[in-house]
Amino acid sequence: MLINIGQLLTLRAAFPGAGPRRGSELNELGIIKDGAVLCLDGKIVSVGATKDALRDSWVKQNRRSLVEVDCANKVVLPGFVDSHTHPVFVNPRLVDFEKRIEGLSYEDIAAAGGGIRSSVETVRKTPKAALAAKVTTALKQMAAFGTTTVEAKSGYGLSVVSEIKSLEAIRDAALNWPGTLVATLLGAHVVPKEFQGCSQKYVEIVCKEMIPLVAKRKLAQFVDVFCDQGAFTAGETQQIFVAAEKSGLSVRAHMGQLSEIRISQFLRFNPASLDHMDHVNEGDISQLAKSNTVCTLLPGANYFLGLNEYPNARRLIDGGVPVALATDYNPGTSPTLSMPMAMSLACTHMKMSPAEAVAAATVNGAWALRLGDRKGSIEPGKDADLAMFDVEDYREIPYWFGGNHCAVTWLNGVVASRA
Ligand code: NIG
Ligand code: FE
Repeated sequence: MLINIGQLLTLRAAFPGAGPRRGSELNELGIIKDGAVLCLDGKIVSVGATKDALRDSWVKQNRRSLVEVDCANKVVLPGFVDSHTHPVFVNPRLVDFEKRIEGLSYEDIAAAGGGIRSSVETVRKTPKAALAAKVTTALKQMAAFGTTTVEAKSGYGLSVVSEIKSLEAIRDAALNWPGTLVATLLGAHVVPKEFQGCSQKYVEIVCKEMIPLVAKRKLAQFVDVFCDQGAFTAGETQQIFVAAEKSGLSVRAHMGQLSEIRISQFLRFNPASLDHMDHVNEGDISQLAKSNTVCTLLPGANYFLGLNEYPNARRLIDGGVPVALATDYNPGTSPTLSMPMAMSLACTHMKMSPAEAVAAATVNGAWALRLGDRKGSIEPGKDADLAMFDVEDYREIPYWFGGNHCAVTWLNGVVASRA
């Protein structure tokens, strides 16, 4: 039982059955001052004011057997849902980092043999247990920043064997982590070297071998495609989405990171989320606003690539599109595990309010993973995923950038302190 919470950000739904937040709903945090949360067996049981919690007859009777946490006026909010990460890699890409500082672009570096393909070589050579250890280390650090649910993609294997190995590494890491992990097959990250010039052959392997096998072995819930210049075309993406649909897997995609693409052609596949969205066609905004597809914005990538432009969050939010925020943790474009950092960038570079950033990092992240009925808010019946920050006001979470003020995280009721 957590008591004396200075600001308890419940993010409770405005009405039963509410979906992802849009427009002004993103500013509604459902704050309870001097709040309390009671959890039992990994679930939230009740939420309210401390004085009411302490007066409750069940609490009075059972108080001695409760683990009581005095939050000393700090902020408690739903654990972050990091709905877009690529944690299955081995080494940082330091040469890419230096080359970019010298002035080469992400695409130039990829063309010169760096980029995603350089991470593939080491992932293919590395045993599964070592990959799983890398993922476990990342998950622990994410929890230290307040994250309790993580979507993890494969995508640096790019062969049936190595994509399966990557997804098994994610599965094995999940066994050692009390939080919730959602796995995504990103076999279509780029065309691997051995298929250069014959991408169609590789797409067939993704569609006919990888996807059916991953579905059969239940190694992933989603199929992702990097649909952009230098990666996969709109036609190839649709082909992959059809295969996913046939195998009963849901879809999501990297879209509009490097170039504009018409989104409306993909909405019939009901993607859970379309991510990056640096370039969005104006005509697609109203289509997106009518759908439940979340647009997941990844400002860590813009920051790390040193770009001046960021996704136009204001246009999307004001146009009624549900937006989420995630880290895009990966070795090439966003080596950060910190959701508060992503939120800070959203505030300073995308002009999202601190409240919008909180909602995008919690409840809308949950919807981006189709977990909105279990995750992303502090309401009775939901999973006990909570983060306590050593601050008095939630706006300090994106304000104090670059540090870590998360004091304690509860993942499905299991406590993880920073120390
Ligand atoms: O989300 N855009 C494609 N995928 C990653 C980058 C991966 C990499 O460079 O290793 C992204 O930014
Ligand atoms: Fe990504």
